[in-house]
Amino acid sequence: MSAGPRLTRRGLLTGGAVAAAGAVAACSPAAATGSGTPGGPGTAARGQGVPETPDGTAAESFHGVHQAGIATPPQAHAVFVGLDLLPGTGREAIARMMRLLTDDARRLTAGRPALADTEPELAALPARLTVTFGFGPGLFAAAEVDHLRPESVAPLPAFPVDKLEKRWNGGDLLLQICADDPLTVTHALRMTAKDVRSFARVRWTQRGFRRAAHVQGAGTTQRNVMGQLDGTVNPEPGTADFDRAVWTSGGPEWMRGGTTLVLRRIRAELETWDAVDPVGKEFAVGRRLDSGAPLTGTREHDEPDFARLTPAGFPVIAEQAHIRRARVTDPGLRIFRRVYNYDEGLSADGRADSGLLFASYQADIARQFLPVQKRLAEADLLNEWTTPIGSAVFAVPPGCPDGGWIGETLLS
Ligand code: HEM
Repeated sequence: MSAGPRLTRRGLLTGGAVAAAGAVAACSPAAATGSGTPGGPGTAARGQGVPETPDGTAAESFHGVHQAGIATPPQAHAVFVGLDLLPGTGREAIARMMRLLTDDARRLTAGRPALADTEPELAALPARLTVTFGFGPGLFAAAEVDHLRPESVAPLPAFPVDKLEKRWNGGDLLLQICADDPLTVTHALRMTAKDVRSFARVRWTQRGFRRAAHVQGAGTTQRNVMGQLDGTVNPEPGTADFDRAVWTSGGPEWMRGGTTLVLRRIRAELETWDAVDPVGKEFAVGRRLDSGAPLTGTREHDEPDFARLTPAGFPVIAEQAHIRRARVTDPGLRIFRRVYNYDEGLSADGRADSGLLFASYQADIARQFLPVQKRLAEADLLNEWTTPIGSAVFAVPPGCPDGGWIGETLLS
């Protein structure tokens, strides 16, 4: 064991910080040349590094066989809203509500104001806005079409790891609004929330974020609030495996081209996670923190070798490592994770309330999501630092053509 000095957080924050900061400054290129660091104080041109052509006008197509917001490259900001239909809201009223919602979603995603837009100026920059709708189990009952509900669109069974809080569970209707700009999301949320006011009440609102747009190259795997690369092994939009894994092809006819969403709010226990050293963190997942490579490889997309043993005869990727427990060998049966981070600020003593909005899309919840979730709930080293506190499931209807509306195949 090394007897050398240890650089601790506390040490850095007290006396050690001065010495450490001095050492870093002395070694930095800025110290050598006398200039500021790029983009920092002393940089030559103000605004240097800001792209010359902002692309807030970029728009995602609303119409199509599938709803947007699933295969769409994930935008930086998201809000998920769960709504409960008001008592007495039946099939016709739901159809009316969906026509209104579709019409406004179609306008806003194209950069046009909503029908009764009170701030039309805010609609001008769609920033790749998508508005996606989902139907919870209660909507099928309210519309008296329960026989057309995909069987596994039902509350999930209780898992031993769950500490579900009522305020984050369930919902008859889902609005999922994503864009690369938070003001765009807020505006679209306000406009669509007005559409549903006389039909439904808000049950929960969950805001999430990923890296800001343009700070990393397209296709770079995002990091979650626990610091891990999250999304490495995931069906790739545009491939046959993705289509098989995500879009519904069996079950009720009206759902063809749709999908299902399981939304789990999973709290990250960051205080205890902070106390784990990097080796322990990597062991829990089975991947390296820096590159995301499996512990048996060197690059992020190297295939994990689950059979490899250490010289002492133990598996390099532990039996209970997250990636071993979550692995599904048939790529067409994987779940599609389109995960957002959440951060609800600090408690009075400075502890974070943050974690993941774990959004999982799959053609069939029973066949794809449940077996993975069961295996993880039984044994997954990561369970020590993650706690599911919310759970909701939705059927995500197929997309619609220009002039059509979302839900038409079920409700018309
Ligand atoms: C806060 C909770 C969670 C965290 C922090 C987390 C983190 C990770 C990380 C770091 C990876 C490795 C990189 C990657 O392939 O993306 C991973 C893989 C994966 N996770 Fe999670 N995960 C969480 C919850 C879940 C849940 C609830 C499920 C499913 C029910 C799940 C399913 C998967 C799957 C299928 C993989 C890919 C496994 C493979 O085949 O290599 N994860 N997760």
